[in-house]
Amino acid sequence: MNNLLKGKRGVIFGALDKQSIAWKVAEHCVAQGATITLTNAPAALRFGQLSELGKQLNAEVIPADATSVEDMENLFEKSMEILGGKLDFVLHSIGMSVNIRKGREYTNLNYEWMKKTYDVSAISFHKMMQVLYKMDAMNEFGSILALSYMAAQRVFPDYSEMAESKSLLESYARSFGYHFGTHKKVRVNTISQSPTVTTAGSGVTGFDLFFEYSDKMSPLGNASADACAQYCAMMFSDFTKMVTMQNLYHDGGFSSMGMNPAVFDIVVKKEDG
Ligand SMILES: NC(=O)c1ccc[n+]([C@@H]2O[C@H](COP(=O)([O-])OP(=O)(O)OC[C@H]3O[C@@H](n4cnc5c(N)ncnc54)[C@H](O)[C@@H]3O)[C@@H](O)[C@H]2O)c1
Repeated sequence: MNNLLKGKRGVIFGALDKQSIAWKVAEHCVAQGATITLTNAPAALRFGQLSELGKQLNAEVIPADATSVEDMENLFEKSMEILGGKLDFVLHSIGMSVNIRKGREYTNLNYEWMKKTYDVSAISFHKMMQVLYKMDAMNEFGSILALSYMAAQRVFPDYSEMAESKSLLESYARSFGYHFGTHKKVRVNTISQSPTVTTAGSGVTGFDLFFEYSDKMSPLGNASADACAQYCAMMFSDFTKMVTMQNLYHDGGFSSMGMNPAVFDIVVKKEDG
């Protein structure tokens, strides 16, 4: 332990079960000396294992639907009360596509479901930041992060409407990063993570092959949830004070690759098998 986050207070959205990236982030932040509150949608609290993590980390769990401004006002007010002051970091680790869940193809999307997808996966990030901003709930040089995926820039057909959700999410980080930086000296970034085996990740059609392809394409292999959590902890620390309005690739080098001969192994294996 390096005590990277000693004395810092944070709120972590999106830990559902032990595979969740947010679960690992919570563990790493507390191991680095932070005190935190945990939050998730009320339904997820009923079905997930978040109370177990709360006990383990001595962290209060506060239900909040990230699409509800009122829920977030309550969450941040309570968090500041419990943690004893303004916040130093917040993680948005939320994603859900209604059209993917219901198996609708990209060329036949239901637009009401699409709105819900954008609301949960992207607009919630703006809402979260707007509430934090209006409440003046962040300390100077505090750090706000959201998790993204490279489908925001490049086409991964099975990622469907989540691609646009991630583009929107990354754009909010830049646009709100301007206002938060100028008026509150707070930084806002997104981390673009490798495919990771979690409930949300595995929901994407053909995830196994997709995971393997990405793993082979990346010189360092896919980045794990644990490695992502370490990167988040660094982004919450004082060692990254001047980094803001960035989309940061955490992907073992995938985003810089054109072709990797290692990928042929999968193709040959498929042809043989
Ligand atoms: N798994 C991957 O391959 C991968 C890759 C890159 C980025 N990401 C991103 O990482 C983030 C975390 O996903 P994960 O892979 O850990 O999966 P996960 O399923 O463990 O986490 C998604 C979380 O979103 C929460 N959520 C859904 N609707 C909500 C709402 N209305 N209000 C509050 N919370 C809500 C869920 O309860 C869950 O905890 C997501 O933004 C995801 O897109 C995942």
